[in-house]
Amino acid sequence: MNILLLGSGGREHALAWKMKQSAKINNLYVAPGNAGTATVAENVAINATDFEAIKDFVLTNNINMLVVGPEDPLVKGVSNFFKNDSQLNHIPVIGPSKEGAQLEGSKDFAKQFMLRHNIPTARYKSFTLDNIKEGYEFLEQLDAPYVLKADGLAAGKGVLIINDIDEAKRELHNMLNGMFGEASETVVIEEFLSGIECSVFVLTDGDSYKILPVAKDYKRIGEGDTGLNTGGMGAVSPVSFADDIFMNKVEERIVIPTVEGLKKDKIDYKGFIFLGLIEVKGEPMVIEYNVRMGDPETEAVMLRIKSDFVDLLEGVAYNKLASKKLEIDERYAVTVMLVAGGYPGDYKKGDVISNLDTINSSIVFHAGTKCSDGKILTNGGRVMAISSYGNSKSEALTTSYANAEKIQFEGKYYRKDIGFDLQ
Ligand code: AMP
Ligand code: GLY
Repeated sequence: MNILLLGSGGREHALAWKMKQSAKINNLYVAPGNAGTATVAENVAINATDFEAIKDFVLTNNINMLVVGPEDPLVKGVSNFFKNDSQLNHIPVIGPSKEGAQLEGSKDFAKQFMLRHNIPTARYKSFTLDNIKEGYEFLEQLDAPYVLKADGLAAGKGVLIINDIDEAKRELHNMLNGMFGEASETVVIEEFLSGIECSVFVLTDGDSYKILPVAKDYKRIGEGDTGLNTGGMGAVSPVSFADDIFMNKVEERIVIPTVEGLKKDKIDYKGFIFLGLIEVKGEPMVIEYNVRMGDPETEAVMLRIKSDFVDLLEGVAYNKLASKKLEIDERYAVTVMLVAGGYPGDYKKGDVISNLDTINSSIVFHAGTKCSDGKILTNGGRVMAISSYGNSKSEALTTSYANAEKIQFEGKYYRKDIGFDLQ
């Protein structure tokens, strides 16, 4: 089978690494990819949202399946583009329809979906400029801190958590007046939930589903979960508090109603559902849906999947997921992200990365890298994810940290406390 994977981050390197191990893979391509994906697949210089160029490539190279890494092409309708094109509609896309992608593309849509299907989530209301006064009144009914969310995609920056009511009102005003462009023309205000978070990934063919290994990511730049939000600084899997009792609740109260809800609403959904969950006094609640795998969670989760991943994706594509077996590696898997100095603020690109040949016992997934004149250069804020197995969390972390220290580039930074809050 020939597969084209869209995306260019650490998640895509991890997905490509896993797919490449499949006996079913013939040619694997990544568009546009990075220096890491180039080691396991062939990079193609096509932007992940350039649907016409993707079509040309797919037809010329006899692609049998499109796997979508990031949310952008999904929210822009790549699945519908394939379905509505007579030359492409026989080629399965792993990723939901444009409507299904609204679970991530519109927080208001996601909240309405959860309300409609009785899925536990924070109490909320949505506001536009037309009813901003009601927004102020709703804020007054809530206790601090106040959670304000831009409805649309805002590059991970669209959620504000504010302690002071007057500041919350000011920010509501700013958001509705273009702070995040179109994305904040509608703002969801919701009740603050206090608890510990984890990421649950579900693979579905629209009828049945498999729950992939649960992970926890570390979003803040600073140790002890302090400082600015990032795309994610590391991840661990499994997650100690997400035990069988908790995961049974997740399955019964969230996974099944979500898959059934999509079916009831006649939303075409084949692909990944990423549940951003919070545990509130032992009970799981949904903070957000994403319609893709997480990054850097994928860089840990892929290590724990023993089954042939392409076989599972084929199950998704041809409605045969129920007949496939998902085998999980019992070991721990962790990933530690190396980032460029200054990230998530301004940072440099183009610095030489050295000592990659000295790594042992870890798998280095590239995130923001590129190859130039035979050298690997930094090419993004998150540079590479150092992933390792261990019989315990600390054993896996020790391996990742030993290798994180070896790899060199100017301004390298990483958090040294990944997994600190878990047993
Ligand atoms: P989101 O983009 O919806 O995942 O929000 C980003 C982050 O904001 C989440 O990972 C949480 O840490 C935090 N957050 C979002 N909604 C809430 C909430 N209702 N209560 C507490 N924290 C929240
Ligand atoms: N690690 C969180 C995300 O991928 O959105």
